[in-house]
Amino acid sequence: MSRTVYSLGLGPGDHELITVKAKRILEESDVVVVPQSDEQGRSVAREVILHYIDASKISMCYIPMTNNEEELVRRYTEAAEKIRELVEQGKSVSYVTQGDPTIYSTSNYLTEKLVAVGVRVKHVPGISSINAAASMLGLPLSVKKGNFGVYEMPADPEKVADLIQRHPTTVFMKVNNKLTTLVDTVKRIRPESAFLVRRIGLEGEAIYDMLNGAPQPESAYLSVAVIKRGRKS
Ligand SMILES: C[S@@+](CC[C@H](N)C(=O)[O-])C[C@H]1O[C@@H](n2cnc3c(N)ncnc32)[C@H](O)[C@@H]1O
Repeated sequence: MSRTVYSLGLGPGDHELITVKAKRILEESDVVVVPQSDEQGRSVAREVILHYIDASKISMCYIPMTNNEEELVRRYTEAAEKIRELVEQGKSVSYVTQGDPTIYSTSNYLTEKLVAVGVRVKHVPGISSINAAASMLGLPLSVKKGNFGVYEMPADPEKVADLIQRHPTTVFMKVNNKLTTLVDTVKRIRPESAFLVRRIGLEGEAIYDMLNGAPQPESAYLSVAVIKRGRKS
């Protein structure tokens, strides 16, 4: 009996941006587990996979957004146990994540727990929102001899300014309620460009130029900031 399960990256939300390999494994899976943080049951990942498989194969798995470590450990352990049981029943199982499974993803925690209970996990990479944002903007993330940095958006404006100075291009993920900090900082340090790309591939998709007016704070939900430092700095 194979004890391998697949961790599949689904891309940013446009169902055409999943890999051929992920699509094949979805179709071959008996059960596709979808970690979900929204209590209402909304899930971008679910919407994407419904283009390829029947809803009857989907098993939603609620993992709340909380900083309570104890609760998170319990939830991920339960999810891993559930998957292990399915595998032991002879089912082929995969679980999915938006973007790439190795980047700021629930899959990282679930994978850790699965490995701990003896399940082998194979990852299938997905197009990250990082790549999707750069593509939407038509801007390079890096060029020869250059580099780029990717960070979870910090709360401290000095830290934000420091990170922007470190690389020709800086990407901030999970901007969320720190949008005002980001906008104020870029207006103060005036990089060459500073864009916020919101809901890529989804309803409400938009690009905001943060140097020329601030988007509404709620625009930061599901958004990536791409900052080009420019030659002067
Ligand atoms: C939990 S992380 C998941 C990252 C994901 N694994 C990836 O590779 O893109 C959630 C963050 O990813 C970014 N994100 C994911 N999907 C996005 C989308 N469709 N549009 C814009 N940003 C997105 C946002 O920064 C969001 O706060």
